[in-house]
Amino acid sequence: MNWFSCVVRAESDKIYGVQEEYVNDKRDNKINLSIGVFRDQNGQSFVPQSVINCEQMLFTKNCSKEYAPIEGFKDFRQSVAKFIYGEDSDVIINERHATVQGLGGTGSLRIGAIFLYELVSVNKTVYIPYQTWSPHNQVFSNSGFQIKHYRYWNQRTLNLDFEGLINDFENMIDYSVVVLHSIAHNPTGIDPTLDQWNQIIDVIQRKKLFPFLDCAYQGFASGDLQRDGVVNTLFAKRVNQMAIAMTFAKNMGLYGDRIGALSIVCQTKQEAHNVLTQLKAIIRPIYSHPPNWGALVVHHLLSDHHLRSQWFIDVNNMYTRIQDIRNQLINELNRLSDGKTNWDFMANQRGMYGFTGFSQTQVFQLKQQFAIYATLDGRINIAVINQNNIKHIAYAMHCIKLQIM
Ligand SMILES: Cc1ncc(COP(=O)(O)O)c(C=O)c1O
Repeated sequence: MNWFSCVVRAESDKIYGVQEEYVNDKRDNKINLSIGVFRDQNGQSFVPQSVINCEQMLFTKNCSKEYAPIEGFKDFRQSVAKFIYGEDSDVIINERHATVQGLGGTGSLRIGAIFLYELVSVNKTVYIPYQTWSPHNQVFSNSGFQIKHYRYWNQRTLNLDFEGLINDFENMIDYSVVVLHSIAHNPTGIDPTLDQWNQIIDVIQRKKLFPFLDCAYQGFASGDLQRDGVVNTLFAKRVNQMAIAMTFAKNMGLYGDRIGALSIVCQTKQEAHNVLTQLKAIIRPIYSHPPNWGALVVHHLLSDHHLRSQWFIDVNNMYTRIQDIRNQLINELNRLSDGKTNWDFMANQRGMYGFTGFSQTQVFQLKQQFAIYATLDGRINIAVINQNNIKHIAYAMHCIKLQIM
């Protein structure tokens, strides 16, 4: 008897599979633009100074290592909810939300997906943008949902396909769940305008869809954490019921602390209470209690006036670095191409990524010819680019685009 003879090799993860290939690459000049982690101008991993200060302050406090409640510390849940909806929002004043700590954005999405599928969803269908952050597909299909996509990126205009998007929303099955990126869409870096968001909400209401927002890059689109939260607050104002998965991995540099939250907006406080009990019932047999440390950091950072202001400045500095290097890359690409092609479309993109519009073949060529790794959809992490590698990356992208091999 061999228990494992039936086990075949699983397909690699679309993002981390690229990382594994990169690690095994023996070339000295290799560059990994595939993973979504912010780097400073020296290519080093980065923790904002406000977060370092917050952690140092917490070290002196001898924080307890006992289990957190299943749903996470109350202080954490309240400060995150206020951060998402605003202190004077109706959702906060009338306590119409069930907010639980999640294991990063992924864990929060997954708990939300299980809840919606098992307890709420009418037709078990979820609509996800095409393109999107690839794990969305598995998070929802592994929770039971049937996956459908709506149009997002127009490969011809290299911009948002708003007409296609609205058309697809109009044709969605009523009472479905729809996933939307709140800010700095991954991978395209293109968000709808406020006016377009309002039109999207109009259709959501008409079609009785359930919006599930994924907020992973708040602060990275405009440099202003508050301004980047506008889509979350707009939805909370206009839609009675919705879900948000939030992660602090990127904007606090807390990747490995796995700290995020799932927040579900309900119509009444009683409804929110019932939802919370169900979320706890889902979490208990999976991981039982969330980890303490990240929640302590996030709560103190959000609630201490001084640390919070410092964090806003830190995020603005991260944004500035990304935008500066993005502009330098575009200038260098345009200089090299000397009018043969135009890279200005990348200047509209926001957040940590650049969406090159490269096909899978071109991504493969980038890897083969230049040892530069992007994700298969043509996404590159702009925050990995610095003065030491920018010329090489721009030259490689230029050659691939114009097929100069
Ligand atoms: C759009 C989007 N959602 C969710 C996540 C997951 O975040 P976390 O690493 O906190 O699980 C990411 C991470 O890259 C992301 O890009």
